[in-house]
Amino acid sequence: ARRGYHERVVDHYDNPRNVGTFEQDDPDVGTGLVGAPACGDVMKLQIRVDEGSGRIVDACFKTFGCGSAIASSSVASEWVKGKQMEDAAAIRNSEIAKHLSLPPVKLHCSMLAEDAIKAAVKDYEAKKAKLAKGSE
Ligand code: FES
Repeated sequence: ARRGYHERVVDHYDNPRNVGTFEQDDPDVGTGLVGAPACGDVMKLQIRVDEGSGRIVDACFKTFGCGSAIASSSVASEWVKGKQMEDAAAIRNSEIAKHLSLPPVKLHCSMLAEDAIKAAVKDYEAKKAKLAKGSE
């Protein structure tokens, strides 16, 4: 039926991992909300970070978009878990695209996932910086 898509895309599309939301105001949560101007698809990826170690202990996402975007965010949510934030932020969309065997026309979908991870890490760090400032 869904010819042309790699089985991993179909798998992550049919059984997306870690779909959900965390409380955005939670000080341990970073939220990355990004959109792809070309197609209008939107992805929200959230991470829960252990403050002491800087390790991502949990992740979830919600994606309003194409099958490749959903699959990319599902993969991203799995890959960031257990990683240090800086290692998670270093995940390239090309690795996700390769894992899912995305065709060139679908590369921007995996780009959304890379951007969402970076945005989530940035949001977490900004939140912590703000809290640190507030408690001075
Ligand atoms: Fe835009 Fe896939 S078509 S994210």
